[in-house]
Amino acid sequence: MKAIVPTGGRGVRMQPLTFSTNKHFIPVANKPLIFYPIESVAEAGIKDVAITYNPGWLDLVKGFLGDGSKWGLKFTYVLQPEPLGLANIVEVCEDFVDGDRFFLHLGDNIFTEGIKELVDYFERRKPYGLITKIRHPENWRMGVPVFDKQGRLKDYLEKPKNPPNEFAVPGIYFFDSVVFGCFRGRGKILPSERGEYEIVGPFKWLIKRGFRVEVIEYKGRWLDPGKFDDWILANQYILDISNSGQIKSKIGPKNVIQGRVGIGKNCKIQNSTIRGPVLIGENVTIRDSFIGPYTSISNNSLIEKSRVENSVIMEGVKIVNVERPIDSSLVGSQTEIIGADGHSDWVEFFVGEKSRLKI
Ligand code: G1P
Repeated sequence: MKAIVPTGGRGVRMQPLTFSTNKHFIPVANKPLIFYPIESVAEAGIKDVAITYNPGWLDLVKGFLGDGSKWGLKFTYVLQPEPLGLANIVEVCEDFVDGDRFFLHLGDNIFTEGIKELVDYFERRKPYGLITKIRHPENWRMGVPVFDKQGRLKDYLEKPKNPPNEFAVPGIYFFDSVVFGCFRGRGKILPSERGEYEIVGPFKWLIKRGFRVEVIEYKGRWLDPGKFDDWILANQYILDISNSGQIKSKIGPKNVIQGRVGIGKNCKIQNSTIRGPVLIGENVTIRDSFIGPYTSISNNSLIEKSRVENSVIMEGVKIVNVERPIDSSLVGSQTEIIGADGHSDWVEFFVGEKSRLKI
């Protein structure tokens, strides 16, 4: 069996960060988001993985992922010429799949209990297609499965206005290679109103032709950090379950470290309180500050005379003299947030498009 992990897409919900970077490489608990699906794929025993990319992104993507050997995987980079939807990602991978069975695991979805059970199920039962379902209060903004008592897929709706049940389909999709027929000839799938080849298309094509497609419930927790608030939630959840709490820098006596706090090499922590779960990368300086629960701080950042809680701080950020607590925030790389230190009552910004500031 083979796997496909995409790195493309428009990233609209994560603007402005995605003007300059690809959302798959924004960190969750100090690790690029896409590393989580890749680890799940490796853990499930798959070796051959296609990484799809949109034009202009190959260098960045390769720079982060390499040839896959870091995870014991073999990566093949496949160009998706335009971000035309999930079914189009399947389509551009036909040569890579080469008649095998395969699955598409979205590069921005985290299945916290892994996917091995799903992969084994697909291998054992050999349906022509397999999707998973989870209960979701906002399933109107996702794919929704319609299925019978035997768990066979009967219909599959993309973002329905009035969902017929409480389930949503998270981002892992299994196929037999017979599915490639849906891209050709009469009856081939067409783009939706939003101009994308939706993932429901290939599955509907299969069921219409009598191919067995099954739906099983995913028992673990599914995280979808596709938009800002969900990113903060995903960060919280991963900090809770995977933070080893290792401290690799010397911590002076004037600090208070409480709970599970991981600190990387070459950090300077002075006169500060750090209350876990917190993860701090390498080369970070924290002075006269309070770092509160559920915060992750990436490499080369500086926090001085400030208070930061429940936030994702990316690389090379400076937060200095900010009197009021910074809470539930996502701060992009190389950003500076500098307080006036009590000497002035105005604020001064140099802010990019679509930024969001709450004061
Ligand atoms: C896509 C799929 C949708 C699925 C979701 C999971 O939605 O089209 O069916 O439920 O991923 O993350 P999109 O991210 O394009 O809104």
